[in-house]
Amino acid sequence: MTILVTGGAGYIGSHTVRALRGAGHDVVVLDSLERGRADALLGADLVVGSIADRDLVTATCRNYDVQAVVHFAAYKSVGESMTSPGLYWDNNVAGTVHLVEAMAEADVSRIVFSSSASVYGTPDAVPVTESAPLHPENVYAESKAQMEKIISWYGVTHGISSVSLRYFNAAGASTDGVIGEDWSVTTNLVPLVMKAVLGASGPVQVFGDDYPTPDGTGVRDYIHVEDLAVAHVAAVEHLLADRGSLCVNLGTGIGSSVREILMLTESVAGRPVPHEVVGRRAGDPAEVYADVRLAAERLNWRATRSLDEIITSAYAWHSSTI
Ligand SMILES: NC(=O)c1ccc[n+]([C@@H]2O[C@H](COP(=O)([O-])OP(=O)(O)OC[C@H]3O[C@@H](n4cnc5c(N)ncnc54)[C@H](O)[C@@H]3O)[C@@H](O)[C@H]2O)c1
Repeated sequence: MTILVTGGAGYIGSHTVRALRGAGHDVVVLDSLERGRADALLGADLVVGSIADRDLVTATCRNYDVQAVVHFAAYKSVGESMTSPGLYWDNNVAGTVHLVEAMAEADVSRIVFSSSASVYGTPDAVPVTESAPLHPENVYAESKAQMEKIISWYGVTHGISSVSLRYFNAAGASTDGVIGEDWSVTTNLVPLVMKAVLGASGPVQVFGDDYPTPDGTGVRDYIHVEDLAVAHVAAVEHLLADRGSLCVNLGTGIGSSVREILMLTESVAGRPVPHEVVGRRAGDPAEVYADVRLAAERLNWRATRSLDEIITSAYAWHSSTI
């Protein structure tokens, strides 16, 4: 009995593969390696290929006696999704159809899906609950909303049960410094701050310091990647116990500002973070953080790591890679 992890060689996937194996599950990863690294798998079985290759997915499910799929494989850049939308409809949306069809063919009926808080767009209220209306504001977010719907319809038509996990802002690296985020491909704030403080880039841009927030900079919910990984183990076990389909937020419930991240990084690094305040970005909400009660109730999971641990682990990881 094995868990198939698509996109397991990527940032969140590799931490989840490690957590699943640590919890005693057998794992096989399917990854194209286009945006992931085989060495981040720390020896887990890897099949190199695409989720769009139905025969490969079906054969992998059969060869490994797969009981559940954790589906990370996707593109995730908001900017790229607006300049090359076809990549996102094809790889994210059509790719998911191929994957779920292949699962049905191989009689695999459980899937944990990497969704995103971006499906809410600019929320009407914070903390954001799972019943908030979905207002995707870019192609990437729309692709995630569509993937959620497609997976949910396979529950109706094929009896596939699912847990869609809407991540807030994933950040940090493994506490032991073994794996972390690849900053060469990311547009997320924490690695960009690390690049700036470690001298691997120019100043990090702060998009607006005149928001109606305590220090004027944007507020988001940063969740440690190892907390996310543990949530995936809980979601897999929820499905293996046949406890039903779900859609839940994964966040800490705490909003942190860009300025707080800069200040914490300065105290961890012992030097200033080169940064420049520029104008607001169109469509960026002032404040987004999660209502986290449903994940606690249904998955018995809550985040345990602090922003301090996110920054400390990210700094240690990126320092080790330059
Ligand atoms: N990082 C975040 O903050 C964040 C937030 C919300 C949601 N997510 C979602 O979580 C998932 C994982 O994110 P990540 O940060 O680890 O991304 P990542 O880019 O590091 O990992 C994605 C992995 O999927 C692989 N992949 C892409 N297309 C594939 C395909 N067709 N077949 C097989 N493998 C394929 C890539 O090679 C890569 O290893 C994505 O679906 C992303 O949309 C991420």
